[in-house]
Amino acid sequence: MSSILIKNGTLATATGTCLADVYIVDEKVNTIGQNLQMQADLVIDATGKIVFPGGIDPHVHLDMPFMGTYSSDNYETGTRAALHGGTTTVIDFVLQTQGKSLYSALEEWRKRSDGNALGDYAFHMAVTDFNDQTKAEIKDMIVKEGISSFKTFMAYKGALMIDDRQMIGLMNEVKAQGGIVTVHATNGDMIDFLVAKHRSEGKLSPLYHYLSQPEITESEASARFADMAFYTGVTPYIVHMTCEGALNAIRNATFRNQKVFVETCMQYLILDASLYENDFEGAKWVMSPPLREKKDQEALWAGLNQGLVQVVGTDHCPFMWDQKKMGEKDFSKIPNGHPAVEHRMELLFSEGVKKNKISLNKFVEVSSTNAAKIFGMFPRKGTIAVGSDADIVIFDPEEKHTLSASTHHMNCDYSGYEGWEVTGKCKTVILRGQVAIDNGSVKVNKGYGSFIKRGESSLVI
Ligand code: URP
Ligand code: ZN
Ligand code: ZN
Repeated sequence: MSSILIKNGTLATATGTCLADVYIVDEKVNTIGQNLQMQADLVIDATGKIVFPGGIDPHVHLDMPFMGTYSSDNYETGTRAALHGGTTTVIDFVLQTQGKSLYSALEEWRKRSDGNALGDYAFHMAVTDFNDQTKAEIKDMIVKEGISSFKTFMAYKGALMIDDRQMIGLMNEVKAQGGIVTVHATNGDMIDFLVAKHRSEGKLSPLYHYLSQPEITESEASARFADMAFYTGVTPYIVHMTCEGALNAIRNATFRNQKVFVETCMQYLILDASLYENDFEGAKWVMSPPLREKKDQEALWAGLNQGLVQVVGTDHCPFMWDQKKMGEKDFSKIPNGHPAVEHRMELLFSEGVKKNKISLNKFVEVSSTNAAKIFGMFPRKGTIAVGSDADIVIFDPEEKHTLSASTHHMNCDYSGYEGWEVTGKCKTVILRGQVAIDNGSVKVNKGYGSFIKRGESSLVI
């Protein structure tokens, strides 16, 4: 038996804040109370610190084959970087190869992930080819494998995209089996048209990545996805929402009493499309959907406070600069994605809580609790409560530091946030009762991270 006593911290959950001690035995939270006097193997004085649940990032791509290369963080480097930044659980995407089964994709992903992670992880299953065979696998994915969310792409035409007929079929089956359908909601045909148009006109810089995915491509697809989900009755979740138009499509869906879960990502709250104006430098932020405008950032912050946006993830999908250079002469060949998993919690605290855009409790809700609830891991994950996994961050809300590729732990040789000053630092990160990060040092080994089987999602969070 091992034990940790965290004393004198300010305990923050999604529902409240209080001064309390937390006593951990083995992997679980054992007791929460004031002035606890238990003997423990390790006593941590958290005076002046905030104690909150380990973050859950439900949108990462580790070691993912994509656009002719692989994302540069694997399960070891990616989950280690996540732990440094207070994220104790990530949800990655298994990508079905068109023409093959869901199980064959799962096997491939297990070969890459098993025994390699430092932090906990789960999988979404991305269905890129819905047919009678894949339909028959949905139930086992949920019941046997603990993979209860199914990702779809309405874009990446010719690679990952499915059509509306497949979408309806998948939604019906996932609804019948008690899962959730998530989506990359942009209009793949419109984007395909605009990419071809810009290329034929010799407009090949990263700016044209942005101009090939205007806001309407996202608002249209978000509305269409919500309509199909309404018709089938499946629980819907839109990943990486970026803009006011798409958010308004979901606002409209609420008028018929529909619930559509919405995730945005940290970058869409704080970065904007002016970054695409600096020639090839803009490739650092080539991601899909692209960064948007200031007015979209305001809509997303408001959406968090209105409860229309429930989750802040990252869509962490890093590529080395040499990989980005695959698209030096043609924006459509730049691998899409950027390094982010390490900075989500600190940036959200610094830009959100410190700047009075969201409360501390909203911070916990959107960085951890809601993802645990929506993706069937609550109350094991996503909160600090008696019986929950002891996934805990001890956070100094005043420590200032500067983000940089020279100090980050993600396997990426540049940073999309170079020189960004943040206030607030993850000092100690505990995962299932083990100190994983202590003042910048890693204390757990590769293989400590566990695959988390997830249960049913709920419309009620
Ligand atoms: O640019 C992105 N988002 N890359 C990862 C794949 C995806 O669409 O999520
Ligand atoms: Zn996507
Ligand atoms: Zn993604």
